[in-house]
Amino acid sequence: MTYDEALARLKAHGQEGALRFWNKLDAEGRRRLLAQIGRIDLDNVSRLARLLTPRGSAGPAHADIAPATVLPGLELADAANVRAGRDALRAGRVGVLLVAGGQGSRLGFEGPKGMFPLAPITGATLFEIHARKILALQRAYGADLPLYVMTSRANDAATRDFFERHGRFGLPAGAVRFFVQGMWPALTADGQLLLDAPDHVFESPDGHGGILDALEADGSFDDMSRRGVEFLFYFQVDNPLVEIADPGFIGLHRRREADASVKVCAKKHPAEGLGVAVERGGRNAIVEYSELTDAQKEATGSGGRLLFLYGSVAIHVFSLDFLRQECARRLPVHIAHKKVPYCDAGGQTVAPDRPNAFKFEKFIFDVLPDAERVVNVEFAREEEFSPVKNARGDDSPDTARRDMMRKQARRLEQCGVTVPRDAQGLPRHRIEIDPCFAPGPADLRGKVKPGMRVEGDLLLA
Ligand code: UTP
Repeated sequence: MTYDEALARLKAHGQEGALRFWNKLDAEGRRRLLAQIGRIDLDNVSRLARLLTPRGSAGPAHADIAPATVLPGLELADAANVRAGRDALRAGRVGVLLVAGGQGSRLGFEGPKGMFPLAPITGATLFEIHARKILALQRAYGADLPLYVMTSRANDAATRDFFERHGRFGLPAGAVRFFVQGMWPALTADGQLLLDAPDHVFESPDGHGGILDALEADGSFDDMSRRGVEFLFYFQVDNPLVEIADPGFIGLHRRREADASVKVCAKKHPAEGLGVAVERGGRNAIVEYSELTDAQKEATGSGGRLLFLYGSVAIHVFSLDFLRQECARRLPVHIAHKKVPYCDAGGQTVAPDRPNAFKFEKFIFDVLPDAERVVNVEFAREEEFSPVKNARGDDSPDTARRDMMRKQARRLEQCGVTVPRDAQGLPRHRIEIDPCFAPGPADLRGKVKPGMRVEGDLLLA
């Protein structure tokens, strides 16, 4: 693309300000900027700009929602469901979707969040923890269980390189596929692009809902069909407790002939930032925490329990056919007022101390209202959810490590092992069990001696 072509395209969309430092750029900077402008879908930028109201961004109102129907957690242990899930796993009908394209800004870790060292003793990273669980399943079921990892342009190379350097943590080369999600520019309140360097327009990943377009563009949907995959287990990179491709969950989804299934748990308190499971006009949906009114967050129903009690932690099963159909539809856009770095008049990059621009994202759970059949099922939070979001405090590496050790302590105790604990119930010694050593509680029996007592750090690998 030449300068004249870029200028004409930008002018047609009222965005010629993106070239305002042109005269100051060297040849490399000019090439970089023109290439980026050539890539940005300016029709889409104009569509996003039209979503901004004069007040900024008006969040959607959700006046017409009711709590969703939620099945009890017993369904996940139901023998027929577990059998149906195991059959699907053995037959190679299950694939795994891992979304890892986020920026992890709250954690503040240099590099993809999946590379964060987390395991209490070995320091295994989030990627390794997930990959070893999948490897354990591949071995247990003698099937491929292909893993599809969504990255973003910012972390794709580092992610692929990390997996390769570690021999994909034992996963066969043909069973791991990376694909890159799209990026969207941010806009000022008056709909203008922001430059975060004189030769660069600020862009960020288009949200985990970007997975649909990204899977389609990459040919991953075709790859799944070729392999005979019908069910996709979906999860986020930051949750080390996740029970990947839990057979009871897959089987429940399958036996209910669902398009989409959602694991939900009771919110800890009204202000907890989980999206809640709701129904609207006979359709299921998840409404983001920030889009609920205070009255909705605090409303109580029978027995004084929260009315909108059940939150989603982004653990899903989707039917492949349904997700493919969803590609043809356009997911709604969510808008957030954020701090976005920008160039001042002199071309210096400024990190603002308050929100100055709007970012746009798509969310995967917005497929739910299109689904004919949705299953919401309650799961035990302490067993399956402890995310790494923040550097310190709640939902941090410390809390995730603590919850990993508590989970393993419970498993050991179920096998008759004594685990000394402190006053808070935290094991006195560090505990880590490699997923390939014992994927589930039943596998641990026979591998540890009942009556044994944990006397120091315990690594079972
Ligand atoms: P979060 O919403 O927690 O965002 O993502 P984040 O980017 O990881 O962290 P912050 O908000 O910047 O601190 C939840 C999951 O969705 C993925 C993330 O990688 C994480 O697994 N995600 C998020 C994407 O894959 N792409 C996105 O555009 C956004």
